[in-house]
Amino acid sequence: MTNPSLLILPGDGIGQEVMAEVRKVIDWIGAKRDVTFDVSEDLVGGAAYDEHGVPLADETMAKAQEVDAVLLGAVGGPQYDDLDFSVKPERGLLRLRKEMDLFANLRPAQCFDALADFSSLKKDIVSGLDIMIVRELTSGVYFGEPRGISEVDGQRVGVNTQRYTEAEIERGARAAFELAMKRDKRLCSMEKANVMESGILWRDVVTEVSKDYPEVELSHMYADNGAMQLVRAPKQFDVIYTDNLFGDILSDCAAMLTGSLGMLPSASLGAPMENGRPKAMYEPVHGSAPDIAGEGKANPCACILSFAMALRYSFDMGAEADRLEAAVEKVLADGVRTGDLLNEAGVKPATTSEMGNAVIAA
Ligand code: NAI
Ligand code: MG
Repeated sequence: MTNPSLLILPGDGIGQEVMAEVRKVIDWIGAKRDVTFDVSEDLVGGAAYDEHGVPLADETMAKAQEVDAVLLGAVGGPQYDDLDFSVKPERGLLRLRKEMDLFANLRPAQCFDALADFSSLKKDIVSGLDIMIVRELTSGVYFGEPRGISEVDGQRVGVNTQRYTEAEIERGARAAFELAMKRDKRLCSMEKANVMESGILWRDVVTEVSKDYPEVELSHMYADNGAMQLVRAPKQFDVIYTDNLFGDILSDCAAMLTGSLGMLPSASLGAPMENGRPKAMYEPVHGSAPDIAGEGKANPCACILSFAMALRYSFDMGAEADRLEAAVEKVLADGVRTGDLLNEAGVKPATTSEMGNAVIAA
């Protein structure tokens, strides 16, 4: 097998700072393990605009289509707020997602014991939590036609349409079942088949796909009950598969069970490539944080944990992913904290690079 290839796009603001810490992790794995990553680095967002006048150059897009995984920091910043919509930094990100056709958005909610106090829930409810929400990302009510605001019988009417084809439900379901196979082999599909035809079709198609994954235990739940269960007893879940709208809400809800924005990774996966690996982009959930950019205050863990997801889901290096996550867990347990993970005054926060170094040491 050829070396795993990775395109790094640090982007803007703290994206560059947190990515520098991920580079240390990549170098460590390269030095200590029998694997060589083919790493290339390029510009996205405002950084690309400054250089090329567009938020993503065509050559960068082409490279992203070739590599096994893209790792992105963050894009945007106030200096770009007045740019024309067509060249705004966010458009670079949207172009990557669209042209790579990344239809499955993976949002883990994992509770590090040392941060359980940051949760809005009781410690024993979240302690040890490790779930994954797979959200369908390219269809559903955010894209369905007809849509718009029009005037009917003298009043304004707003319309959006929930529309899913079998093929759209199926490809996301396959991605979710594949993940379940790499995890605890349990999948809960969430829709509202009680009141929505698209939900009835969703349930049917997921059930059909499940026949190809007999080892995975499949359950179905109405999404409103799913919201209740997520805050009542989240540990009952392993992988959750749901549509674009429900997934948007449920994944934000689940993420906050576990603490700070500075800790949250994500992945977006597309169709399998010729080598069997899915098209993939990994990125922290947070943005470019202009309020702290350039000050060495950013928490690099969300980006480091995004790389751990790349190890697990793109490179079949699950043991290394576990090791990296365990290192983050140890660092937190040892009390190393960037400012976003501190609520006591008078404690000196760790810098971005101190946090990265501590992960390497662990
Ligand atoms: P943000 O996520 O950049 O920041 C929100 C708050 O969380 C800020 O107070 C920030 O300091 C803090 N924060 C975020 N990440 C942190 C980290 N790793 N360590 C410590 N503190 C952290 O969201 P905001 O402020 O709404 O947006 C700022 C810029 O980022 C905007 O230009 C926005 O468009 C862009 N953005 C980009 C995203 C992306 O690239 N995927 C996602 C969200 C926003
Ligand atoms: Mg959201």
